[in-house]
Amino acid sequence: MALPESSSWQFTPDLRICHVLNGMWQVSGAHGRIDPTAAIKNMFDYLDAGFATWDLADHYGPAEDFVGEFRRQLAATRGVAALSGIQAFTKWVPRPGRMTRRLVEDNIARSLRRMGVETLDLLQFHWWEYEDPAYLDALTFLAQLRDEGKIRHLALTNFDTAHLKIIGEHGIRVVSNQVQYSLIDRRPEVHMAPFCQEHDIQLLTYGTVCGGLLSEKYLGQPEPGYGLLNTASLQKYKQMIDAWGGWGLFQELLRVLKQIADKHGVSVANVAVRSILERPAVAGVIVGVRLGVADHRSDNARVFDFTLDTGDQAQIQSLLDKSQDLYRLIGDCGDEYRG
Ligand SMILES: NC(=O)c1ccc[n+]([C@@H]2O[C@H](COP(=O)([O-])OP(=O)(O)OC[C@H]3O[C@@H](n4cnc5c(N)ncnc54)[C@H](OP(=O)(O)O)[C@@H]3O)[C@@H](O)[C@H]2O)c1
Repeated sequence: MALPESSSWQFTPDLRICHVLNGMWQVSGAHGRIDPTAAIKNMFDYLDAGFATWDLADHYGPAEDFVGEFRRQLAATRGVAALSGIQAFTKWVPRPGRMTRRLVEDNIARSLRRMGVETLDLLQFHWWEYEDPAYLDALTFLAQLRDEGKIRHLALTNFDTAHLKIIGEHGIRVVSNQVQYSLIDRRPEVHMAPFCQEHDIQLLTYGTVCGGLLSEKYLGQPEPGYGLLNTASLQKYKQMIDAWGGWGLFQELLRVLKQIADKHGVSVANVAVRSILERPAVAGVIVGVRLGVADHRSDNARVFDFTLDTGDQAQIQSLLDKSQDLYRLIGDCGDEYRG
Protein backbone atom coordinates (compact mmCIF):
# COMPACT_ATOMS: atom_id res chain seq x y z
CA MET A 1 0.00 0.00 0.00
CA ALA A 2 1.42 3.39 -0.94
CA LEU A 3 -0.38 6.63 -0.31
CA PRO A 4 -1.14 8.91 -3.27
CA GLU A 5 0.71 12.20 -3.82
CA SER A 6 -2.29 14.07 -2.38
CA SER A 7 -1.49 12.54 1.03
CA SER A 8 1.53 14.77 1.50
CA TRP A 9 1.54 18.42 2.41
CA GLN A 10 4.20 21.12 2.31
CA PHE A 11 3.95 22.10 5.94
CA THR A 12 6.89 24.51 5.88
CA PRO A 13 9.31 25.22 3.03
CA ASP A 14 11.67 22.58 4.45
CA LEU A 15 9.17 20.02 5.78
CA ARG A 16 6.76 17.85 3.86
CA ILE A 17 4.43 15.86 6.08
CA CYS A 18 1.69 13.29 5.75
CA HIS A 19 -1.73 14.98 5.89
CA VAL A 20 -2.78 12.30 8.40
CA LEU A 21 -0.34 12.15 11.30
CA ASN A 22 0.13 9.22 13.65
CA GLY A 23 -0.78 10.26 17.19
CA MET A 24 1.25 8.70 20.01
CA TRP A 25 -0.76 9.68 23.09
CA GLN A 26 -2.12 6.17 22.59
CA VAL A 27 1.18 4.66 23.80
CA SER A 28 1.14 6.62 27.06
CA GLY A 29 -0.52 3.89 29.11
CA ALA A 30 -3.90 5.61 29.31
CA HIS A 31 -5.21 3.58 26.36
CA GLY A 32 -4.19 0.05 27.34
CA ARG A 33 -0.86 -1.75 27.62
CA ILE A 34 1.64 -1.31 24.81
CA ASP A 35 4.41 -3.80 24.09
CA PRO A 36 7.50 -1.78 23.05
CA THR A 37 8.81 -4.39 20.59
CA ALA A 38 5.46 -4.76 18.85
CA ALA A 39 5.03 -0.98 18.88
CA ILE A 40 8.34 -0.26 17.13
CA LYS A 41 7.64 -2.99 14.59
CA ASN A 42 4.26 -1.40 13.92
CA MET A 43 5.95 2.01 13.40
CA PHE A 44 7.76 0.46 10.42
CA ASP A 45 4.39 -0.67 9.03
CA TYR A 46 3.07 2.89 9.24
CA LEU A 47 6.18 4.28 7.56
CA ASP A 48 6.02 1.69 4.79
CA ALA A 49 2.38 2.53 4.19
CA GLY A 50 3.27 6.21 3.78
CA PHE A 51 2.24 7.48 7.23
CA ALA A 52 5.61 9.04 7.99
CA THR A 53 4.70 11.87 10.39
CA TRP A 54 4.39 11.33 14.14
CA ASP A 55 2.80 13.50 16.79
CA LEU A 56 4.00 13.00 20.34
CA ALA A 57 4.87 14.79 23.55
CA ASP A 58 7.37 14.74 26.38
CA HIS A 59 4.65 13.40 28.70
CA TYR A 60 3.21 10.64 26.47
CA GLY A 61 4.94 7.85 28.45
CA PRO A 62 7.64 6.25 26.28
CA ALA A 63 6.64 8.01 23.01
CA GLU A 64 9.87 10.03 22.64
CA ASP A 65 11.93 6.91 23.48
CA PHE A 66 9.98 4.94 20.87
CA VAL A 67 10.90 7.54 18.26
CA GLY A 68 14.55 7.27 19.37
CA GLU A 69 14.53 3.47 19.09
CA PHE A 70 12.60 3.56 15.81
CA ARG A 71 15.20 5.94 14.35
CA ARG A 72 18.07 3.73 15.55
CA GLN A 73 16.52 0.64 13.96
CA LEU A 74 15.64 2.55 10.80
CA ALA A 75 19.21 3.82 10.37
CA ALA A 76 20.67 0.39 11.14
CA THR A 77 18.46 -1.52 8.71
CA ARG A 78 17.96 0.99 5.90
CA GLY A 79 20.79 3.46 6.23
CA VAL A 80 21.03 6.92 7.76
CA ALA A 81 19.44 8.53 4.68
CA ALA A 82 16.14 6.83 5.55
CA LEU A 83 15.85 9.08 8.60
CA SER A 84 15.02 12.05 6.40
CA GLY A 85 11.81 10.25 5.40
CA ILE A 86 10.18 10.65 8.82
CA GLN A 87 9.03 13.65 10.81
CA ALA A 88 8.46 13.63 14.56
CA PHE A 89 6.58 16.52 16.16
CA THR A 90 6.89 16.61 19.92
CA LYS A 91 5.51 18.91 22.63
CA TRP A 92 6.75 20.51 25.77
CA VAL A 93 4.12 20.77 28.50
CA PRO A 94 5.87 22.39 31.48
CA ARG A 95 4.45 22.68 34.95
CA PRO A 96 3.49 26.28 35.67
CA GLY A 97 6.21 28.39 37.24
CA ARG A 98 9.14 30.67 36.46
CA MET A 99 10.66 30.01 33.05
CA THR A 100 14.42 30.42 32.82
CA ARG A 101 16.65 29.83 29.83
CA ARG A 102 18.29 26.97 31.76
CA LEU A 103 14.98 25.23 32.48
CA VAL A 104 13.80 25.53 28.88
CA GLU A 105 17.13 24.40 27.49
CA ASP A 106 17.31 21.37 29.82
CA ASN A 107 13.85 20.21 28.80
CA ILE A 108 14.55 20.55 25.10
CA ALA A 109 17.87 18.75 25.58
CA ARG A 110 15.96 15.91 27.21
CA SER A 111 13.62 15.52 24.22
CA LEU A 112 16.57 15.70 21.81
CA ARG A 113 18.34 12.97 23.75
CA ARG A 114 15.31 10.70 24.03
CA MET A 115 14.44 11.05 20.35
CA GLY A 116 18.06 10.72 19.22
CA VAL A 117 18.00 13.86 17.09
CA GLU A 118 20.11 17.01 16.91
CA THR A 119 17.14 19.16 15.95
CA LEU A 120 13.46 18.73 16.85
CA ASP A 121 11.37 18.96 13.67
CA LEU A 122 8.58 20.76 15.52
CA LEU A 123 8.24 21.74 19.16
CA GLN A 124 4.65 22.40 20.22
CA PHE A 125 4.36 24.38 23.43
CA HIS A 126 1.46 24.08 25.89
CA TRP A 127 0.73 26.42 28.80
CA TRP A 128 -1.72 25.80 31.63
CA GLU A 129 -2.38 29.27 33.09
CA TYR A 130 -2.76 32.43 31.05
CA GLU A 131 -2.79 34.48 34.28
CA ASP A 132 0.92 33.65 34.49
CA PRO A 133 2.63 35.51 31.61
CA ALA A 134 5.79 33.39 31.94
CA TYR A 135 4.66 31.60 28.77
CA LEU A 136 6.10 34.55 26.88
CA ASP A 137 9.48 33.99 28.56
CA ALA A 138 9.36 30.29 27.70
CA LEU A 139 8.49 31.06 24.08
CA THR A 140 11.26 33.67 23.86
CA PHE A 141 13.82 31.07 25.03
CA LEU A 142 12.34 28.46 22.69
CA ALA A 143 12.67 30.90 19.79
CA GLN A 144 16.33 31.38 20.73
CA LEU A 145 16.84 27.61 20.71
CA ARG A 146 15.16 27.49 17.31
CA ASP A 147 17.52 30.16 16.01
CA GLU A 148 20.44 28.16 17.41
CA GLY A 149 19.31 25.04 15.52
CA LYS A 150 17.91 22.90 18.35
CA ILE A 151 14.35 23.28 17.05
CA ARG A 152 13.45 23.50 13.37
CA HIS A 153 10.03 25.10 13.87
CA LEU A 154 8.25 26.45 16.90
CA ALA A 155 4.54 25.77 17.39
CA LEU A 156 1.79 25.75 19.99
CA THR A 157 -0.89 23.46 21.25
CA ASN A 158 -4.23 24.35 22.82
CA PHE A 159 -3.68 28.10 22.71
CA ASP A 160 -6.74 30.27 22.16
CA THR A 161 -6.99 32.98 19.52
CA ALA A 162 -6.45 35.88 21.94
CA HIS A 163 -3.13 34.46 23.16
CA LEU A 164 -2.03 33.47 19.67
CA LYS A 165 -2.45 37.13 18.85
CA ILE A 166 -0.42 38.26 21.90
CA ILE A 167 2.39 35.85 20.98
CA GLY A 168 2.47 37.25 17.45
CA GLU A 169 2.53 40.78 18.82
CA HIS A 170 5.63 39.84 20.82
CA GLY A 171 7.36 38.99 17.55
CA ILE A 172 7.43 35.24 18.24
CA ARG A 173 6.84 33.27 15.06
CA VAL A 174 4.92 30.00 15.38
CA VAL A 175 4.01 27.83 12.41
CA SER A 176 1.07 25.90 13.88
CA ASN A 177 -1.36 25.39 16.72
CA GLN A 178 -2.62 21.91 17.61
CA VAL A 179 -6.26 21.93 18.66
CA GLN A 180 -9.27 19.70 19.08
CA TYR A 181 -11.29 19.87 15.86
CA SER A 182 -13.96 17.46 14.71
CA LEU A 183 -17.52 17.39 13.42
CA ILE A 184 -18.47 17.42 17.11
CA ASP A 185 -16.07 20.14 18.25
CA ARG A 186 -16.07 22.91 15.67
CA ARG A 187 -14.90 25.67 18.03
CA PRO A 188 -11.83 26.43 15.85
CA GLU A 189 -14.16 27.76 13.15
CA VAL A 190 -15.30 30.70 15.26
CA HIS A 191 -12.07 32.70 15.63
CA MET A 192 -9.09 30.37 15.42
CA ALA A 193 -9.18 29.24 11.77
CA PRO A 194 -9.84 32.73 10.33
CA PHE A 195 -7.02 34.16 12.49
CA CYS A 196 -4.66 31.39 11.41
CA GLN A 197 -5.47 31.93 7.75
CA GLU A 198 -4.79 35.62 8.09
CA HIS A 199 -1.47 35.07 9.87
CA ASP A 200 -0.11 32.07 7.99
CA ILE A 201 -0.44 29.69 10.93
CA GLN A 202 -1.62 26.14 10.33
CA LEU A 203 -3.81 23.89 12.42
CA LEU A 204 -3.00 20.32 13.36
CA THR A 205 -6.13 18.69 14.69
CA TYR A 206 -6.86 15.99 17.22
CA GLY A 207 -10.05 14.33 18.42
CA THR A 208 -11.15 14.24 14.78
CA VAL A 209 -12.39 10.65 15.01
CA CYS A 210 -13.39 11.14 18.68
CA GLY A 211 -11.29 8.26 19.94
CA GLY A 212 -13.03 5.94 17.43
CA LEU A 213 -16.60 6.96 18.35
CA LEU A 214 -16.96 8.43 14.86
CA SER A 215 -16.94 5.02 13.20
CA GLU A 216 -19.23 2.15 12.20
CA LYS A 217 -18.40 0.45 15.48
CA TYR A 218 -20.78 2.78 17.36
CA LEU A 219 -23.47 3.10 14.69
CA GLY A 220 -26.78 1.73 15.97
CA GLN A 221 -25.26 0.99 19.38
CA PRO A 222 -26.82 1.90 22.71
CA GLU A 223 -25.12 4.65 24.65
CA PRO A 224 -21.92 3.17 26.13
CA GLY A 225 -21.51 3.44 29.90
CA TYR A 226 -18.23 4.62 31.38
CA GLY A 227 -17.08 1.00 31.86
CA LEU A 228 -17.17 0.35 28.11
CA LEU A 229 -15.11 3.43 27.29
CA ASN A 230 -11.76 1.76 27.81
CA THR A 231 -9.37 4.43 26.56
CA ALA A 232 -8.72 7.97 27.78
CA SER A 233 -9.72 9.20 24.30
CA LEU A 234 -13.12 7.53 24.34
CA GLN A 235 -13.83 9.02 27.76
CA LYS A 236 -12.69 12.48 26.71
CA TYR A 237 -14.75 12.64 23.53
CA LYS A 238 -17.85 10.97 24.95
CA GLN A 239 -18.04 13.96 27.30
CA MET A 240 -17.81 16.26 24.29
CA ILE A 241 -20.65 14.37 22.59
CA ASP A 242 -22.77 14.72 25.74
CA ALA A 243 -22.27 18.50 25.69
CA TRP A 244 -22.72 18.69 21.90
CA GLY A 245 -26.16 17.11 21.80
CA GLY A 246 -26.11 13.65 23.33
CA TRP A 247 -26.12 10.08 22.07
CA GLY A 248 -29.41 10.33 20.15
CA LEU A 249 -28.19 13.19 17.97
CA PHE A 250 -24.81 11.50 17.65
CA GLN A 251 -26.55 8.44 16.19
CA GLU A 252 -28.26 10.71 13.66
CA LEU A 253 -24.84 12.08 12.70
CA LEU A 254 -23.41 8.58 12.35
CA ARG A 255 -26.30 7.64 10.05
CA VAL A 256 -25.66 10.67 7.84
CA LEU A 257 -21.93 9.94 7.74
CA LYS A 258 -22.61 6.30 6.91
CA GLN A 259 -24.78 7.28 3.93
CA ILE A 260 -22.03 9.53 2.63
CA ALA A 261 -19.38 6.91 3.33
CA ASP A 262 -21.33 4.27 1.41
CA LYS A 263 -21.78 6.63 -1.53
CA HIS A 264 -17.99 7.05 -1.79
CA GLY A 265 -17.13 3.46 -0.85
CA VAL A 266 -15.22 4.55 2.26
CA SER A 267 -15.74 4.42 6.03
CA VAL A 268 -17.46 6.70 8.55
CA ALA A 269 -14.03 7.53 10.04
CA ASN A 270 -12.80 8.48 6.57
CA VAL A 271 -15.68 10.95 6.15
CA ALA A 272 -15.03 12.37 9.63
CA VAL A 273 -11.34 12.94 8.82
CA ARG A 274 -11.93 14.21 5.28
CA SER A 275 -14.47 16.75 6.45
CA ILE A 276 -11.91 18.38 8.79
CA LEU A 277 -8.94 17.99 6.43
CA GLU A 278 -10.81 20.03 3.83
CA ARG A 279 -11.46 22.96 6.19
CA PRO A 280 -9.53 26.25 6.08
CA ALA A 281 -6.14 26.44 7.83
CA VAL A 282 -5.99 22.68 8.50
CA ALA A 283 -2.59 21.22 7.59
CA GLY A 284 -3.11 17.80 9.07
CA VAL A 285 -5.38 15.56 11.07
CA ILE A 286 -3.77 13.51 13.83
CA VAL A 287 -5.26 10.05 14.27
CA GLY A 288 -4.20 8.17 17.37
CA VAL A 289 -2.48 4.81 16.87
CA ARG A 290 -2.50 2.09 19.52
CA LEU A 291 0.75 0.65 18.25
CA GLY A 292 0.84 -3.13 18.24
CA VAL A 293 -2.75 -3.31 19.58
CA ALA A 294 -5.14 -2.04 16.90
CA ASP A 295 -4.36 -0.93 13.39
CA HIS A 296 -6.62 1.14 11.13
CA ARG A 297 -3.86 1.91 8.61
CA SER A 298 -5.52 0.54 5.50
CA ASP A 299 -8.85 2.09 6.36
CA ASN A 300 -7.30 5.49 7.07
CA ALA A 301 -5.39 5.35 3.79
CA ARG A 302 -8.75 5.66 2.00
CA VAL A 303 -9.09 9.23 3.28
CA PHE A 304 -7.07 10.17 0.21
CA ASP A 305 -9.33 8.32 -2.26
CA PHE A 306 -12.23 10.78 -2.29
CA THR A 307 -13.41 14.31 -1.60
CA LEU A 308 -16.70 15.51 -0.18
CA ASP A 309 -19.02 17.19 -2.67
CA THR A 310 -21.27 20.15 -1.88
CA GLY A 311 -24.25 17.82 -1.37
CA ASP A 312 -22.33 15.83 1.25
CA GLN A 313 -21.24 19.00 3.00
CA ALA A 314 -24.79 20.38 3.05
CA GLN A 315 -26.14 17.10 4.43
CA ILE A 316 -23.57 17.13 7.25
CA GLN A 317 -24.16 20.81 7.97
CA SER A 318 -27.92 20.45 8.29
CA LEU A 319 -27.37 17.79 10.95
CA LEU A 320 -24.74 19.86 12.74
CA ASP A 321 -27.18 22.78 12.84
CA LYS A 322 -29.20 20.79 15.41
CA SER A 323 -26.30 20.59 17.87
CA GLN A 324 -25.26 22.80 20.79
CA ASP A 325 -22.71 25.56 20.30
CA LEU A 326 -19.59 24.27 22.07
CA TYR A 327 -17.87 27.63 21.68
CA ARG A 328 -20.61 29.17 23.79
CA LEU A 329 -20.56 26.31 26.30
CA ILE A 330 -16.79 25.79 26.66
CA GLY A 331 -15.05 28.76 25.06
CA ASP A 332 -12.27 29.00 22.50
CA CYS A 333 -9.74 26.26 21.66
CA GLY A 334 -8.05 24.80 24.71
CA ASP A 335 -10.29 26.50 27.26
CA GLU A 336 -11.31 23.07 28.57
CA TYR A 337 -7.76 22.73 29.95
CA ARG A 338 -7.96 25.97 31.92
CA GLY A 339 -10.25 26.18 34.96
N1 LIG B 1 -2.55 18.58 22.09
C1 LIG B 1 -3.37 17.91 22.87
O1 LIG B 1 -3.80 18.37 23.92
C2 LIG B 1 -3.84 16.57 22.41
C3 LIG B 1 -4.93 15.97 23.06
C4 LIG B 1 -5.37 14.73 22.60
C5 LIG B 1 -4.72 14.13 21.54
N2 LIG B 1 -3.66 14.73 20.94
C6 LIG B 1 -2.95 14.11 19.79
O2 LIG B 1 -3.89 13.53 18.94
C7 LIG B 1 -3.68 12.13 18.83
C8 LIG B 1 -4.99 11.44 18.67
O3 LIG B 1 -5.59 11.28 19.93
P1 LIG B 1 -7.11 11.39 20.21
O4 LIG B 1 -7.33 11.22 21.64
O5 LIG B 1 -7.61 12.62 19.56
O6 LIG B 1 -7.70 10.10 19.51
P2 LIG B 1 -8.40 9.92 18.10
O7 LIG B 1 -7.42 10.12 17.01
O8 LIG B 1 -9.68 10.70 18.06
O9 LIG B 1 -8.79 8.39 18.23
C9 LIG B 1 -7.86 7.38 18.04
C10 LIG B 1 -8.58 6.04 18.06
O10 LIG B 1 -9.59 6.05 17.07
C11 LIG B 1 -9.76 4.75 16.58
N3 LIG B 1 -9.61 4.80 15.10
C12 LIG B 1 -8.62 5.37 14.38
N4 LIG B 1 -8.84 5.20 13.06
C13 LIG B 1 -10.01 4.53 12.95
C14 LIG B 1 -10.76 4.06 11.86
N5 LIG B 1 -10.37 4.26 10.61
N6 LIG B 1 -11.91 3.39 12.12
C15 LIG B 1 -12.31 3.17 13.39
N7 LIG B 1 -11.65 3.59 14.48
C16 LIG B 1 -10.50 4.27 14.25
C17 LIG B 1 -8.71 3.87 17.21
O11 LIG B 1 -9.32 3.18 18.29
P3 LIG B 1 -8.86 1.68 18.71
O12 LIG B 1 -7.40 1.76 18.97
O13 LIG B 1 -9.66 1.46 19.97
O14 LIG B 1 -9.23 0.77 17.59
C18 LIG B 1 -7.69 4.88 17.72
O15 LIG B 1 -7.01 4.42 18.86
C19 LIG B 1 -2.90 11.77 20.08
O16 LIG B 1 -2.17 10.59 19.94
C20 LIG B 1 -2.03 12.96 20.23
O17 LIG B 1 -0.94 12.85 19.33
C21 LIG B 1 -3.23 15.94 21.37
